[in-house]
Amino acid sequence: MKKFTMGVLGLGEGRSIISAVQNSELWELGNICDLNEELCKERCQEFGLDGYTTEYQNMLDDESIDVIGIYTPDQLHAAHIKMALEAGKHVICTKPLMVDLDEAGALLEAQKRTGKTVFVGQSSRYFEPARRQRQDFEEGRLGGLITVETHYISDSRWFLDREWSHRKGFSWMYNFMIHAVDLAVWYLPEVEEVYGLGIASENTRERGIQAPDTMKFLLKNKDGRFAGVNGVYAAPTLGSAVEQSISCTLRGTKGISRAGYPKLQYYTNFQPLQKTAQLHEYNELHDYFFRFEAETHHAGEYQNYIEQFARDMNEGITPKPDLKEGIRTLAVMEAMEQSLRLGIPVNVSQVLADRNLCLD
Ligand SMILES: NC(=O)c1ccc[n+]([C@@H]2O[C@H](COP(=O)([O-])OP(=O)(O)OC[C@H]3O[C@@H](n4cnc5c(N)ncnc54)[C@H](O)[C@@H]3O)[C@@H](O)[C@H]2O)c1
Repeated sequence: MKKFTMGVLGLGEGRSIISAVQNSELWELGNICDLNEELCKERCQEFGLDGYTTEYQNMLDDESIDVIGIYTPDQLHAAHIKMALEAGKHVICTKPLMVDLDEAGALLEAQKRTGKTVFVGQSSRYFEPARRQRQDFEEGRLGGLITVETHYISDSRWFLDREWSHRKGFSWMYNFMIHAVDLAVWYLPEVEEVYGLGIASENTRERGIQAPDTMKFLLKNKDGRFAGVNGVYAAPTLGSAVEQSISCTLRGTKGISRAGYPKLQYYTNFQPLQKTAQLHEYNELHDYFFRFEAETHHAGEYQNYIEQFARDMNEGITPKPDLKEGIRTLAVMEAMEQSLRLGIPVNVSQVLADRNLCLD
């Protein structure tokens, strides 16, 4: 099996991908890069590395690097992906793929022309409970899927201390809620119409930001089934022991399942049905998923997704979510934003048509 070599761009959350690469038998680390030289040195010390660069171009010029892992601020992803493709590299880009669809057409064109792969690091799909839930779904243990409920709820006011959270392009929806949206469209991939309500609470507005921090949406699939998606980001929470930060509930004709994050817990009630769902816990994996202080990093999820990427590439399969799927999810989110603004249901195909985007 071919091993892949990664150059890591952006060394904040990029710390987790360095750990993932170092612990994987399918990957090697090519180089690391950040504009902040002190941070480069810190990561070298932490991971026993002997080199770094502060110039992205150096990684792009390095022929030993196959894949660029992009962990820069959200607003820079589109430009950094395009540069990687033009340099003949595959891309693994953290969520959100982009902060709007402005560059979507140019990226689709560059990807097609270069023939390189773009994979979106939707980490929540790769946490153990989410993986188990997906497997049970694919094995038909729920029967037919009737409806989906997802949420991402966290008191993330700390995020507003970041300089780039005050720059154009930041929103709670694209940076945070995308986890819950992605889980919903993973199960209902043909979302056609969306409707939602949202407010920017005083807690966000007093920091000079107008982006809604409290949102509730209905996402209607082509066949009439729908998902409910909730997000609250600037208010106290019940805590993850009471209410998981991320949650995905699948209600089927024959069973029900609920996976969450950050607790390694998964509830199922399959045939023969019980009065109360069964709890499955994977606490033995705690240190695999959470390698640094607290439960705030994602190294285990990243290791799972880069290994999936490597296995798929070796087998000639396109790793998912790919560029087209990522862009479709962003089109759903652009429709969600429009619905908040206009107060009416918004059609996703119309968003794609208005943008001249064809994903077939
Ligand atoms: N669950 C997840 O998948 C998950 C979790 C956290 C963060 N993220 C994503 O990771 C990305 C980074 O978030 P973060 O929390 O590490 O932010 P951060 O601000 O801590 O780190 C970003 C780093 O990028 C560097 N940088 C900026 N421009 C650069 C350039 N042109 N070249 C090289 N380096 C550059 C900055 O110096 C900084 O160190 C964001 O897109 C965020 O949404 C994903």
